Amino acid sequence: MFPINRPRRLRASVGLRRMVQETVLTPNDLIYPLFAVPGNAIAKEVKSMPGVYQLSVDKIVEEAKEVYDMGIPAIILFGIPEDKDNEATGAWHDCGIVQKATTAVKEAVPDLIVMNDTCLCEYTPHGHCGYLEVGDLVGRVLNDPTLELLKKTAVSQAKAGADIIAPSGMMDGFVKVIREALDENGFSHIPIMSYAAKYASAYYGPFRDAAESAPSYGDRRTYQMNPANSLEALKEIELDIAEGADMLMVKPALSYMDIIWRVKEATNLPVAAYNVSGEYSMVKAAALNGWIDEKKVTIETLMSFKRAGADLILTYHAKDAVRWLNEVS
Ligand code: PBG
Ligand code: ZN
Repeated sequence: MFPINRPRRLRASVGLRRMVQETVLTPNDLIYPLFAVPGNAIAKEVKSMPGVYQLSVDKIVEEAKEVYDMGIPAIILFGIPEDKDNEATGAWHDCGIVQKATTAVKEAVPDLIVMNDTCLCEYTPHGHCGYLEVGDLVGRVLNDPTLELLKKTAVSQAKAGADIIAPSGMMDGFVKVIREALDENGFSHIPIMSYAAKYASAYYGPFRDAAESAPSYGDRRTYQMNPANSLEALKEIELDIAEGADMLMVKPALSYMDIIWRVKEATNLPVAAYNVSGEYSMVKAAALNGWIDEKKVTIETLMSFKRAGADLILTYHAKDAVRWLNEVS
């Protein structure tokens, strides 16, 4: 009898397919990024990211309530400060925009997990993720002076009420110094999600519009990873684990599924995938042209991150996905 094995037997009906589905995607898996700007009643759509807005703190609070009511457990906040300077004052000041937004959200929606992105690029005039010597013309970020500023940033974010600190600048030793600084200041209970394997990617383009954080000269290749490397990602996560990271992130997600898989295999820590701005905007653009089915493509993509090993997904599609989860089957 040919063939004995007929895998199609288990695909024959909705019920059978439900029974043997290996991966599930739920709202619990999602983290929704938000961009905070100074002012009041501001909701300014980001040109290159349809459906994504720069929001003033009052609007962030409204959004946070909606996100929480939809069953999404967490947001991550980015900030666009009033002023930028070489010390990235807006990043670590207790009255910084992210600090204000964090406190306001925690007050209004205490059970929503508020993550803070801990980096300097939105707060420096040159747009690099660290400290540059005055007069630097090539964007050579100084590692250890940057660590000092990141420590201050993390502590002020924790003071403002952040539930998770997420350092994203790819500085050597950043998890260690942030862990120590948090512990010394009474925040030993606050977890760190390290952007452990973050690649120098062209997929961040639209985010830099949203966060107004494009480097004004040079690029990020002296601190973010070369997209050609994967062993280096394993080295990065090994270091971050040793330094005390509680969760690890791989970023971007779509062209780095192999890295998500390898990181998941190499650790017991929760692994997050960042479905970055360029990945979102490609889907939106094709959908707006009527070229793809946005709902199905989005759910398929997010499901695939989970199948690849991601426990958590940071995505601008989080709210859409929750709405569509039950529609797309
Ligand atoms: C800042 C930061 C970036 C992103 C998250 N944090 C951009 C960058 O490194 O230039 C990218 C997110 C996205 O593209 O959605 N360090
Ligand atoms: Zn940065």
